[in-house]
Amino acid sequence: MNIKGKHFRTIWLKEGENTIVQVIDQRSLPHKFIIEDLKTVDEVATAIRDMHIRGAGLIGATAAYGMYIATLEAAKADSFNDSLITSVEILSATRPTAVNLFYAIKKQLDAIEKGNTNQEKIDIALSMAIYIADEDAQFCKSIGEHGLKIIQEIALKKPGETINILTHCNAGWLAFVDYGTATAPIYAAMDAGINVHIWVDETRPRNQGARLTAWELKEHGVPHTVISDNTGGHLMQHDLVDMVIVGSDRTTYTGDVANKVGTYLKALAAKDNNVPFYVALPSSTFDWKIRDGVKDIPIEKRGGDEVKYIQGMHEAKIKKVLLTPEESPAANYSFDVTPARLVTGLITERGICAADEKSVLTLFPEYQKSI
Ligand code: MRU
Repeated sequence: MNIKGKHFRTIWLKEGENTIVQVIDQRSLPHKFIIEDLKTVDEVATAIRDMHIRGAGLIGATAAYGMYIATLEAAKADSFNDSLITSVEILSATRPTAVNLFYAIKKQLDAIEKGNTNQEKIDIALSMAIYIADEDAQFCKSIGEHGLKIIQEIALKKPGETINILTHCNAGWLAFVDYGTATAPIYAAMDAGINVHIWVDETRPRNQGARLTAWELKEHGVPHTVISDNTGGHLMQHDLVDMVIVGSDRTTYTGDVANKVGTYLKALAAKDNNVPFYVALPSSTFDWKIRDGVKDIPIEKRGGDEVKYIQGMHEAKIKKVLLTPEESPAANYSFDVTPARLVTGLITERGICAADEKSVLTLFPEYQKSI
């Protein structure tokens, strides 16, 4: 997407330096735009774990480039395979919920295995990293085209009126390589001349909505309003939300959706108020093994300081301030699972389907065998 007229993706190789990966350091957004160089597997792992980059698709693409860097390091080690396996362990331990991380690492391992020499393995890993990033961008673009149809249908019922869409967290282009998932239909609707307005949940504790989604939408000129996380239910009761679109970090093939904590409560409120609740996700975010998402999707628990402190800009400096009594413990569950029964539909790169096993497998029949 464009920032001040210049096209950016969220991850790329440094110009003229094929061994350095560059990403936008999201910790300082929206106040500062900083590009970070990643040169080692440890730096890639830190960037994922400490959320310099975040969001399911981008975590996957970064892990894919991390695997390419892992082959460069492995070629200098005593044993290529031992070094590669250590890197896989380091990268796999960074964030447990986003399944794109494991999708990308597995795809890389399957590909690298086919190389005969170290140089061949390096070349294959580079091509695969580029492929995974391009695939992510293409998936998101297609999600936008399919999701646009839902917005067009709502617009037909409210001619000339603004369509109000509520979203949670950041499932925008910053969470992927380009376009985003929840935002892709929004950008497509803007391009189609539909008046949209977005309610942006601030998304405590890290405020990805207030900091990142608001910034993205502002940069793209999309009308939006940031709301505190508890506002959605009230807006729905007063007909101020036409639809909800959220992203996902992992969705079971039965349609249970893991997404940023708080999503489940929005889905409950949407159900109670007959507001359509859509989840936009690429096929790389499906978990083809887990049947019961509430029971079996691992939910990341992060440090309590993310809840106790809040970050913002003060006198031109990014600062953190303490919100709670210093001594109060805080719990930080990063995700929750919205059961399939609360989901109106899944918007994927292949089209829209109901959140149930039969519909998901009709759209993605090739995964039947892995279940
Ligand atoms: O913890 P994060 O910021 O990596 O959370 C992931 C997300 O961006 C959201 O849950 C999002 O809605 C899912 S779509 C990538």
